[in-house]
Amino acid sequence: MENILIKEFNHIPVMLNECLDGLNIKSNGIYVDGTLGGGGHSLEILKKLKSGKLIAIDKDVDAINHCKEKFKEYSDKVIFVNSDFKKYKNILSNLNIEKVDGVLLDLGVSSYQIDTPERGFSYRFDGALDMRMDKSQEFCAYDVVNNYSEEELRRIIYTYGEDSFAKIIARAIVAKRKIQPIKTTKELVDIIENAIPKKFQTKGSVCKKTFQAIRIEVNGELNNLDCVIKDMAESLNSKGRLVIITFHSLEDRIVKNVFKELNTDCICDKSVPVCVCNHKKSVLLVNKKPIVASNDEQKINKRSTSAKVRIVEKI
Ligand SMILES: C[S@@+](CC[C@H](N)C(=O)[O-])C[C@H]1O[C@@H](n2cnc3c(N)ncnc32)[C@H](O)[C@@H]1O
Repeated sequence: MENILIKEFNHIPVMLNECLDGLNIKSNGIYVDGTLGGGGHSLEILKKLKSGKLIAIDKDVDAINHCKEKFKEYSDKVIFVNSDFKKYKNILSNLNIEKVDGVLLDLGVSSYQIDTPERGFSYRFDGALDMRMDKSQEFCAYDVVNNYSEEELRRIIYTYGEDSFAKIIARAIVAKRKIQPIKTTKELVDIIENAIPKKFQTKGSVCKKTFQAIRIEVNGELNNLDCVIKDMAESLNSKGRLVIITFHSLEDRIVKNVFKELNTDCICDKSVPVCVCNHKKSVLLVNKKPIVASNDEQKINKRSTSAKVRIVEKI
C-alpha cells in the first residue's frame, strides 16, 4: 500500500480535444458540465465562451470549491451547482433555463477522489471505508461491506465489478465481519487478497473489481443513468451536442443503447406489425464507433486507456 496523502486536485482531463470538438462550442451558447471534477474540460469550455454560460455540476463539494478558485477570472460565465446531475431537469428549471447547446458527462471518479486516502476509494491507500462522492450522503462503503447479505455482496461484485471471484470474495467478507466489523480499505484488501488463490493473482490488483463494484453501489452510479441521458438529449437546442465519456463496459452499454434508441424512429417490439409507439428519432450519431484515446494519450494518462467517448447531435 502506498503511504502518501494527496491534497492537490490533480486530474488530467481525458480526450480533451475530442470532447471540445465534440461539443462544437458556440461562443454565445449555454453548456453543461455534469461532472465538473478538477475542471479540466470546463476550463477549456469557458475559454471558448464570450456571452455564453457554463453550468458546472458536481455532487462532490471539494470539486466545486476547487473550481470556484480555479475559475475566478471566468466568474461571470459560470454557474456552480453542487448537486447530482441525475437531478438535471430540476437544476435547469431552478435556473430558468429550458434549452442548452451542449452537455458533457465524464463519468466516474476523479483522480483527486481516488488519490485522497481518506475518501476511501482506493485499494492502494489505507483509509476509512467511505467511497461517497457526495460527502453529505449517509450511506457509505462501510454499510455495504458490513450490512449487505452474502448474496447481495456477490451480486454487486459480480454485476458491477464483473468479477468471476465474486462468490469467494463475498463469502470471505461475511466470514471476517462475523469476528469484527470491517472498517478500513486495508482490511478489505487483505480479505480479498487472502480469499483469491495466489495462482490467479498475477496481473494488477485483485481488489480493483470489488472496489469498483462497491463504489458504483455506494454512489448509485448506474441508477437512472438512461433516464437522465434522455433528459439531457431532450434539453438540447437543434444541433446541440451531448458528449459522454465512459470508463467501463457497464456504463458504455447504457450510453450506447440510449443513443441507439434516440436515433431510431420506431421502437416497437419486432412482433408488432404496425408502429404504435410513435417514437421519432431525435438525434444523429456523430461517431458510429466510440472514440478512444490516442496511443500518445494512453502513454501519458493511464486512466484514458479504458475511456470511450460517444457523441450525439440533436436534430
Ligand atoms: C471523471 S471526474 C470529472 C473530471 C473532469 N472532467 C476534469 O477534467 O477534471 C468525475 C466527477 O464527476 C462527479 N460525479 C460523478 N457522478 C456524479 C453525479 N451523478 N452527479 C454529479 N457529479 C458526479 C464526481 O464527483 C467527479 O468529481
